[in-house]
Amino acid sequence: MGPDLKNVKILLGVTGGIAAYKSAELCRHLVKSGARVQVIMSDAACRFITPLTMETLSGQPVHVQMFDPARRPLTHIEAPAEADILLVAPATADYLARCATGRASDLISAVTLAFAGPVLAAPAMNTNMWRNPATVRNLHTLRDEHGWHIVAPGSGELACGTVGEGRLADTDDILRALTGLLRKDLNGLRILVTAGPTVEDLDPVRFISNRSSGRTGYAIAAMAARRGADVTLVSGPVSLPAPPRVTRVPVRSALEMEQAVLGRAADMDVIVMAAAVADYRPETSAPQKIKKGTDDTMTVKLVKNPDILLALGRLRGTSDRPVVAGFALETEHLVENAQKKRAQKNAHIIVANLAQDALDGDTTRAVIVDDTGETDTGGVSKEALADRLLDICAARCGRSR
Ligand SMILES: Cc1cc2nc3c(=O)[nH]c(=O)nc-3n(C[C@H](O)[C@H](O)[C@H](O)COP(=O)(O)O)c2cc1C
Repeated sequence: MGPDLKNVKILLGVTGGIAAYKSAELCRHLVKSGARVQVIMSDAACRFITPLTMETLSGQPVHVQMFDPARRPLTHIEAPAEADILLVAPATADYLARCATGRASDLISAVTLAFAGPVLAAPAMNTNMWRNPATVRNLHTLRDEHGWHIVAPGSGELACGTVGEGRLADTDDILRALTGLLRKDLNGLRILVTAGPTVEDLDPVRFISNRSSGRTGYAIAAMAARRGADVTLVSGPVSLPAPPRVTRVPVRSALEMEQAVLGRAADMDVIVMAAAVADYRPETSAPQKIKKGTDDTMTVKLVKNPDILLALGRLRGTSDRPVVAGFALETEHLVENAQKKRAQKNAHIIVANLAQDALDGDTTRAVIVDDTGETDTGGVSKEALADRLLDICAARCGRSR
């Protein structure tokens, strides 16, 4: 019996390799498993297998051209908006190269670039192409920076007559990877995530804050919702849209964040404190704009903000729930500092990342520590980091992917 993909909306991308004929079988399996499959083919793919075949198997019009006078265009924005996942099989070396460099020069690349959901690619190519440093580098970029999931090709006899790596993974392996990604392993879990900076007002027009963009916390919230959790996102002021199916609770100051978090903590299975909470706030916030004085200096007295992570650590005591995860922004000694902070705050998990790339970079190297040890993620995208952290939280809640 195949996987249950009832009502799952899949964008199936087919690019121009000899293995394109296998995408017909894959499409058939997906449809038989209940999925709604929208096929997009590259021009080159149409040299190997006809759109008519894919149209007949998917039961939906197939799109190839960005500008197709014969039919209403499927825009690169419209197609991704609907889909739960983008599966590209086979994925050519050239397609991987286009995506790794952010090209949007044809429909399938443009759709990929515009797609915010999970991407699963099954590359297939000649062994030398597969081992070429350019392809290796592109895959590295796509996996670690873009958060792609890759079903590695198998070894065997290739269509070009050689034997080696590069053969499209078996349909069963692709389906297994797909269902793994779609599995709602966090279904029913209530997860609270904090994100962004806090803003501590000096007067109605001035404040003290920090450079947190909120992207890590938002990536965790989005990923948790995608994996089926019931997500509350307590967010400081950021310029990011609320992720789909996430309840956002906007807050401004550390005191507001404390109230929003502690008021909900008892109902949560997992709490991830990814916000950059200001350690101090001005002792008073003036009700009117502070006027420039005659003195050359001005002193602002700061008072300590509550330590929300510590409060959560105390609240959970020796209990397993809620699972409490905190972040530590470090400039050095990631593991030692993370372990120390975990003990000090009585948190289950601490994610330590480097300040340099956590603030500015698209990728970050993080070390996730808990009582079972540490996981060094290497340089990964915020989405990949979110996935790893949620895997650990899920395991602590008795869930596995
Ligand atoms: C007979 C034949 C077989 C090919 N097989 C592959 C292949 O398996 N993998 C691959 O990456 N490219 C393969 N190519 C090259 C691609 O078709 C070519 O790079 C094309 O530009 C890919 O376009 P696309 O990525 O838009 O589909 C093959 C070309 C030919 C003529």
